[in-house]
Amino acid sequence: MKNNKIVIGSDHAGYSLKLKVIDHLKERGFEVIDVGTNSLDRCDYPVYAHALCEKIQNGECELGILVCGTGVGMSMAANKHKGIRAACCSDTFSARLTRMHNDANVLCFGERVVGYGLACDLVDNFLDAEYEGAQHAKRVEMIIGYENGNFGV
Ligand code: RB5
Repeated sequence: MKNNKIVIGSDHAGYSLKLKVIDHLKERGFEVIDVGTNSLDRCDYPVYAHALCEKIQNGECELGILVCGTGVGMSMAANKHKGIRAACCSDTFSARLTRMHNDANVLCFGERVVGYGLACDLVDNFLDAEYEGAQHAKRVEMIIGYENGNFGV
């Protein structure tokens, strides 16, 4: 990772788990940028997915974490942004492998799906893994090509 900053966001359904994950990240020595939401009041998850993606797109942060009820809506919204590869994970193997093989830069999960302990394990597996490149690079390049409308082989 090029810096120690992690950007994190949630909607109301992921807010409580997000606060605990922030504590976990700080205990691990990361600087945390929280793009909201800031309460349990009902809100729209795409707003926070967008705010987080901007921080990655402008280079302020390399990696981000999004929490909603399931993690699915957040990943859908985030994946509409150029340069963003968001993975919704509820197992540690996928959380690690999506960094290593897919060069995922956003981890999503759901407060209604995973508990605090598993959420921290997902985060640790994601953040501690490194993209391997090699044979995976061509496939990630293909995804980036699709973003630019290039669907050729
Ligand atoms: C909010 O009720 C819920 O729909 C949202 O947090 C998320 O799970 C969407 O994918």
